[in-house]
Amino acid sequence: MRIAIGSDHAGFEQKQMLKSYIANELGHEVIDLGPDSDARCDYPDYGEKVARCVAAGDADRGVCVCGTGIGIAIAADKVAGVRASSITTPEFADLFRRHNDGNVIGLSGRFVDPEVNREIVRVFLTSEFEGGRHAQRVAKIMKLDTTGKVKPVARPAVHPAV
Ligand code: RB5
Repeated sequence: MRIAIGSDHAGFEQKQMLKSYIANELGHEVIDLGPDSDARCDYPDYGEKVARCVAAGDADRGVCVCGTGIGIAIAADKVAGVRASSITTPEFADLFRRHNDGNVIGLSGRFVDPEVNREIVRVFLTSEFEGGRHAQRVAKIMKLDTTGKVKPVARPAVHPAV
């Protein structure tokens, strides 16, 4: 597979490590979307780059790393066609693939050990989507790519002050 990878400064060191792991030990092609150093930068820029690469079909999956893995995953998930989440355990990586057909993960470069992140990535790149009952749920998520930002949500009733 082709794997897009990106980080911010807080995820840079683990991004470099995971890039080698994915290419040399897992045997995938890696597209490194930066940054090239650990100079301070903004995680949404790199979450977006990875997400757009996956959404365009230039990569099969995306791996993002920031301090927590949260911000970069939030940014990536805004791109239509992407299902991104912060992942901190191999078990969640497995369920993210099997149930959510996740295609981009956000990893923590500051709070999760490199060894655990390697295993998360290995599982993320080997577990397969189960389809079946999960397919209709994922289809509902994907529908939000086009309706989520424009369709007003009904407001709950406001009780008058008494
Ligand atoms: C950068 O200090 C930090 O906020 C960022 O790496 C990430 O954790 C955001 O979610």
